[in-house]
Parts: sequence; C-alpha cells; structure tokens
Amino acid sequence: MVAYKSKVVERIRLPSREQRTRALDEAGYNAFNLAADDVFVDLLTDSGTGAMSDDQWAALLRGDEAYAGSSSFDRLESAVADVMGFERVVPTHQGRGAENVLYGTLLSEGDVALNNTHFDTTRAHVANQGADPVDCPIPSAHDPDADEPFKGNFSLERARAVVDEVGAERVPLVILTITNNSAAGQPVSVENTRRVRKFADEIDATFVIDACRFAENAAFVTRREDEFADATVAEVAREQLGHADALVMSGKKDGLANVGGFVATDDEDLFERCKQRAILYEGFPTYGGMAGRDVAAMAVGLREAVEESYVEDRIDQVREFGAMLAAAGIPVYTPIGGHAVYLDAGAMLPAIPADEFPGQALVCELYREGGVRGVELGSFAFPDSDRPELVRLAVPRRTYHREHFDHVVETAEAVLERRDELSGLEIVSEPAVPELRHFSATLSPIESEAVTAADGGME
Ligand code: F0G
Repeated sequence: MVAYKSKVVERIRLPSREQRTRALDEAGYNAFNLAADDVFVDLLTDSGTGAMSDDQWAALLRGDEAYAGSSSFDRLESAVADVMGFERVVPTHQGRGAENVLYGTLLSEGDVALNNTHFDTTRAHVANQGADPVDCPIPSAHDPDADEPFKGNFSLERARAVVDEVGAERVPLVILTITNNSAAGQPVSVENTRRVRKFADEIDATFVIDACRFAENAAFVTRREDEFADATVAEVAREQLGHADALVMSGKKDGLANVGGFVATDDEDLFERCKQRAILYEGFPTYGGMAGRDVAAMAVGLREAVEESYVEDRIDQVREFGAMLAAAGIPVYTPIGGHAVYLDAGAMLPAIPADEFPGQALVCELYREGGVRGVELGSFAFPDSDRPELVRLAVPRRTYHREHFDHVVETAEAVLERRDELSGLEIVSEPAVPELRHFSATLSPIESEAVTAADGGME
C-alpha cells in the first residue's frame, strides 16, 4: 500500500512520433544521448532520479556548509551507524567515487577482484587499478526463467575455481553486490553472505559489500529466507551488512537522495587510508564532494529506506509492473528484481542476432513507440559475455504511478506487434574504454535485405 502522496509535481510531455524518430537519429541510437525533456516515462535508471520526502527537503535547508566539521556529516555518521552498523564513514560525491577511494586503496596491478557480478562502474574501477574483475554469479543468474529466490547469490564454487587457478595471494578483494544489479536486480541471501564472509577469511581477502540497494535486498530476505520471516527490514539490513569489512554505497539508490555516496568501515587502518585518498579525489572527509545539504538529505534518506511502509511498497510496485508486462505477453526476467523489470530482448526479438544488438534495438523502439527510455544490458553493454540480451526498465523511487506503467506496457505491446519490421544496429563510433561503451557509443540501423533491395530497385 502506498504510504505517501505528492506535494510537488513535474510536467512531462510526449513529443510527436516524428519528433521522437528525429531525436533518436540525432542521439545516434543511444538513449543516453537523448534530452530528458524528450522522454515521457524515463526508466533509464533508478539512480538519483527518485522523489525526496518533505523531511529530506527540510534537511536540505538545514544543511551545514562548513568545509570541516559540518554537523550534516554528524547526521550522516549517526545514520550510517544506526541503519548499517558501521562507525567510520568517508563521504564521496556518488557511488563510483566510493569505488575509486576504496578499490584504489585495496587493489594493485595484477590483482584479481571477485564479485557476484561487477556493475559496470565497479568493473571499470577495478580495471583502472590494473586489476582483473572476475564475476562469480550462480548459474541460474543468467537464466531469465529459473524460478529461484536468490538468483543474485555469489557462487563459491566459481570463486574457489578462480582462486585455485590464480592463487589466493592474487585475490585481495571479494565484493558482494546487493541486490545484484547486473543480474537483473536479484537479491542475495544472508546465508550466502555468511558463506562469502567465511570464504574471504579463508583466502585472507577484504570482504566488501556494494550496498547500493541494501534495503530492497533486506525486504526480499524477510519474504524469502525462512530464518528472517519475523525480522524487520532494518534488522536484516544490519545483520547482512555486518558481515562485511567495508561498504561502498551510492546514496542515489537506497540513500533516497539525488546525489551522494560513501565508504563505511569499522577498520581504523582502512578508514585512514581511504580518508587520504578521498582528500585527493573527493574533498575534505566531512563533505566528500557533496554540498553539506546533500549530505544531510542522504542521512535522512538512509533512515527512510528501511521503513517497512516505504520499502515494501517499493518492491511491490516493481513486481506489479513486471506482472503487468508479463500478462501482456512481454518476455520478462523472473522473478522480478528489486529496482527494475528486465525485458528479455533475445526472446522478444529473436530475428535480430546478438551481434546486431537486439536489446539496443528494443531500447530504440520503446522510445520511438512511446517515449519510454530504458537501458540495454546485453551484448552492447557487455561485449564478449554470455549474458542474456536484457533491457532494464528501472523504476525511480516514489516517482511514477499506475498510469505511467500502463503506458509502458501499451508501448511494449505495440513494439511486440511490429517485431518483424525491426532491424538490428551496428556501431558507428565507440569510446576507448570498452567497459563504458554503452554510455557513449553511437550506432545506426542495419538496413534489412528487403529494404536494401527495395532501395536498389528504385535507383
Ligand atoms: N554499484 C552498483 C551496484 C550500481 O548499481 C551503481 C550505479 C554503482 C555502484 C555506482 O554508483 O552511480 O552513484 O556512481 N548504478 C546506476 C544504475 C548508475 O543505473 O544502475 P553511482
């Protein structure tokens, strides 16, 4: 049941089909290049795009902009201690700032980092240290139809195989991403978290939890893990996070803020080292690249994120959206994850081969058809991987309503009806860093043989 109402609204507009077609062409068939004003329902990301509460807006006004010793930082420290159970906090401008600070501190050239699945900025930051990011998902993570409760789990079997191959001394870092964003937002069980902790101890590695969506993960645990059937989301969150040596956090997700992030730890030595690196890259350690007001808003958001009335509604809304799409015959990854519905573009557009990016073709058609923006997470975003061709429709927090989701479902149905007319895409230009390709590459439609023949005939 929704436990909030609107106090401020923002106008949105659906450009004409002609305008959308032109915008798509000008964007190089990459939805990241579209102007937000040209998007009707924006499901590109759940990161920093949600609505803040009146308490968060009030905290903004009271933000303390002192360079050092800001009272807004005190609020953040106490929120992190209460909600997540860690005493030492290094604020950063957003999650990837925290990744730079922590992974830059923990990794050296030639190291290997293990993760249930590296999110793209995580992968890039590990690689940026000259280290090798290796994914250890469980096999069902990439099966869009497997009906299992914790498909986000970390595969210890796979991790052990990697350690046997490269040697434990090359693996100083084990990361657990909850929920597992790159595996369709699937949750990770507390039982799996305990086993990863033990494994990290065995190989003498630092155990980091990427806690971006820790509250959503905890809500799934209360519903799906018997041991926690009577626990609150807040209790599960503390229990699960408490197994880590350190957290990396993007406040733009379960911090319910528009910007912000941090590293948290109880390890005094690690804290000091992170602080030094943070001064270099982020800012003084009581503001870390944020305005004091943003630190304050994130502190309030962290507490709201574990309120049952908020987080239960949150994962129910996403689940209902997924159920509506499935009922309309759109192939979706199941079970539905915490922050997004993932469309199975491979199943939806089987005529487009992987090297012509069926997921990206679907992203483009959703925009052309209904001004809906999603993001490809298949062979365009992850070259040379064996992942399914997924398109993520991420749901910003506390932002959209039933009518918006009805529109998205109608849009997807219309695309499904025209699927035989759709063509694949080819890359026109791409950036130097392959891990970040999908943010800025440009593409163009591959003319189908039928179209080419027709053109030829007219010459
Ligand atoms: N880790 C995970 C699991 C993430 O999903 C993200 C961001 C980050 C780290 C980096 O955080 O954006 O604050 O720098 N994910 C966004 C997304 C961008 O759309 O999934 P950030």
